[in-house]
Parts: sequence; structure tokens; C-alpha cells
Amino acid sequence: MQAPVKDSLGSGCTLIDKTLNRESWNHTLFGPRPLCRYGPGPKMHEMIAPLSWLLGKWRSEGGKGIYPTIKDFTYGEEVEFFHVGQPNIQFTCCSWKSESKAPLHREAGFIRIKPDTNKVAMMIAQNTGICEIEEGEVTGQKMETTSQSVARMSFSKPPKTLKVSRTFKRDGDTLEQVLYMETENTPYTEHLRIKYTKV
Ligand code: HEM
Repeated sequence: MQAPVKDSLGSGCTLIDKTLNRESWNHTLFGPRPLCRYGPGPKMHEMIAPLSWLLGKWRSEGGKGIYPTIKDFTYGEEVEFFHVGQPNIQFTCCSWKSESKAPLHREAGFIRIKPDTNKVAMMIAQNTGICEIEEGEVTGQKMETTSQSVARMSFSKPPKTLKVSRTFKRDGDTLEQVLYMETENTPYTEHLRIKYTKV
């Protein structure tokens, strides 16, 4: 019998936290406890110091989605960037419809920095069957990346995404993400814009 969840699981999503048991969630995503992020707080690897401004859990109810082929929409999102002492940052994010709170887009991935440079790479797996590698640069508290490859499951919903770019910018306790994309039907244009506050 699983104990009821009394506190946050830190899954990166409050909706998941409310419905999953801590042990099963930890084990499913991150393996046994000593190897996961709930172990004794690991020391941050110096390689990821230029991205330390991203670390933590961020949340917004004010995301704006647009695209020429769809109706404008608003969404909420939680994103968490964390590390386990390795030279990479892990992240999870989940979004939901503003009105119904129904789950929308979800992602998990890793960010690495090329040694002795400000070059960054993100590897992102999405619930929609898309997997991206984005590369770019971190400058101060701003990270700009563009897809180098976008792979997709053969039966992912069309249209095919051809290119994605993201900008993360921190200003005090606010983090902004802006995402542009190109599909096989639509030239490169804005899809998402959201400002999170630290949770
Ligand atoms: C918080 C993140 C995101 C949210 C909330 C979101 C939400 C949506 C919604 C509501 C639609 C319209 C409904 C539909 O056609 O299914 C849509 C369409 C789409 N999204 Fe996103 N999306 C997100 C991120 C992304 C990302 C990262 C990509 C690509 C890598 C992407 C690619 C697309 C595509 C290709 C379409 C279809 C556009 C078309 O029909 O021309 N989305 N998105």
C-alpha cells in the first residue's frame, strides 16, 4: 500500500506530484535513491557554473502560444533545472492548458557545456515523439540555442518540425523562455513566450 503524498516530489510538475508516490516516481525516472537527485545535495560541478542561474524550479500561468496555423492559446508551465554533481544540467518541464489544467507539452533533457568555451548543447526528449539536439551559447544570464537535429517518431503527428530555437534569459527572479520554430508548412516564426517566477 503506497503512502499518500504529503509534500512535493520535485518531479518538475505539481500535477504529477499530486498523483504519484515518491518512491515509485524517483525510481522510475532517476533510479535507486543513491543515484538520483534526492541523495545528499551534491556539489555543483564547476563546468556547469556558467549555467547556475538556471538551476531551480520555475513556474508560470502566463505562457502565450501562437502560430500562423493554430488558434492563439495560453498555458501554464513548470520547468526544473537540477544537477547531480555531474558536468551536466538535467531538466524536466510540463505544461498545461490554462483553463482546464489538462496536460499539454512535456519535455526532459540534459544541458552540457563544451569545455573551456561558452558553447552549450541541449538534448531534449518531448512527449510528442520529437527529440532535439540544440546548440548555441551562454552569455551572462542568457542562453540561446538552435536545433542541429530534430528527430521524430515515424508516426508523430504532422506537420514535421524542421527547426527550433530557444532563448532563456534570467532577470532577477524572473526567467523568460521564447521559442521559435519552422515546420514543413510554416516558415520560422514564434510559437511560445513565457515568463516564469522561481518556485
Ligand atoms: C510548453 C510547450 C508547448 C506547448 C504548450 C505547445 C502547445 C501547442 C498547441 C496547443 C498546439 C496546437 C494544437 C495541436 O496542433 O496539437 C501546438 C501545435 C504545435 N506545436 Fe506546440 N507546444 C509546445 C512546444 C512545442 C515544441 C517544443 C515544439 C517543437 C519542437 C512544438 C511543435 C508544435 C507543432 C509542430 C505544432 C503544430 C503546428 C501546425 O499545425 O502547424 N510545440 N502546440
